[in-house]
Amino acid sequence: MKTRAAVAWQAGKPLTIEEVDLQGPKAGEVLVKLVATGVCHTDAFTLSGEDPEGVFPAILGHEGAGVVVEVGDGVTSVEVGDHVIPLYTPECGQCRFCLSGKTNLCQAIRATQGQGLMPDGTSRFSLDGKPIMHFMGTSTFSEYTVLPEIALAKVNKAAPLDKVCLLGCGVTTGIGAVLNTAKVEPGSTVAVFGLGGVGLSVIQGAVLAKAERIIAIDINEDKFEMAKQLGATDCVNPKNFDAPIQNVIVDMTDGGVDYSFEAIGHTQTMRAALECCHKGWGESTIIGVAGAGQEITTRPFQLVTGRVWRGSAFGGVKGRTELPGYVEQYMKGEIKIDEFVTHTMPLEDINKAFDLMHEGKSIRSVILF
Ligand code: APR
Ligand code: ZN
Ligand code: ZN
Repeated sequence: MKTRAAVAWQAGKPLTIEEVDLQGPKAGEVLVKLVATGVCHTDAFTLSGEDPEGVFPAILGHEGAGVVVEVGDGVTSVEVGDHVIPLYTPECGQCRFCLSGKTNLCQAIRATQGQGLMPDGTSRFSLDGKPIMHFMGTSTFSEYTVLPEIALAKVNKAAPLDKVCLLGCGVTTGIGAVLNTAKVEPGSTVAVFGLGGVGLSVIQGAVLAKAERIIAIDINEDKFEMAKQLGATDCVNPKNFDAPIQNVIVDMTDGGVDYSFEAIGHTQTMRAALECCHKGWGESTIIGVAGAGQEITTRPFQLVTGRVWRGSAFGGVKGRTELPGYVEQYMKGEIKIDEFVTHTMPLEDINKAFDLMHEGKSIRSVILF
């Protein structure tokens, strides 16, 4: 079949809209018609050429939601008409990682996914007979896409797909980091570095965890209003202080926070996030993705004296098991997503979504197919 898709031909160049060929689902695969997709930083990172794993030409996109239109042989967990959210972190339930119960990092299809291929080592997309690569196993910048069954979370049909698509990455990443990775307790003091879609979702997670004090940190004060609306109790602009931001936070909190989160992707703020934690028990979770080859530093004494440094991918959330519950929480009003959609546009205008992101003007742009 043919599908309309935004193709990334090479690093640093705008996407172009093409009618590409899409092969139907093979065994264990599912054809999905996308209804909406968010545009996330990881798409921009790969498009920039800085992602060492990036392969071109490719169809980017990993924050989508859609409807199942065809299933391949042996597919049992979803059927035609089901509403689904693609998972760049799948859940096979059978690999050593899934069975460990300790991580959401299913490795069942990791190798081929990283190469932009389906689990059988080939691509379903092509143009004029030349293959176009998949991206993060999802390729949601296409009206139709093929995914492995284990990379689909089946969700409530009543949920608006143009909103819950954001649970495919940013919103879940922030909330999950608080609830699954850090396991913030009621009454805690929390610091959040960076108030984009991910950091604002950390605030939501901290509210759900009943944190008492939530300190929101950003150099762009335009972000403070929404942070407060979502539940931040304090907003801090590091530029307003001569002292390093970690010292400012330590002074504000009588020795440091119980939990901190880095949702920017800078190694300097990762260090600040660790060092603003309370001696003896403070725990810092890295969520932001730093540039390729960058390294983090701190004095080891920071850890010797009881601070803990962690990281989290997709909020530690096991997609097939847990994402349907996140959708229900959204439906009940416990998780806010609508406020995060600052712009919507058709696929034809997708390059604008990248511009808005780079200009810091959007929280999330959502493409409507
Ligand atoms: N100190 C404080 N805030 C900063 C700093 C800094 N030095 N530098 C940037 N910021 C703020 C920006 O002003 C912005 O509000 O961090 C925020 C980052 O938000 P977004 O760019 O919208 O990013 P987001 O989508 O939330 O993702 C954050 O998580 O998933 C990863 O790759 C993603 O690394 C990225 C991070
Ligand atoms: Zn993302
Ligand atoms: Zn697995």
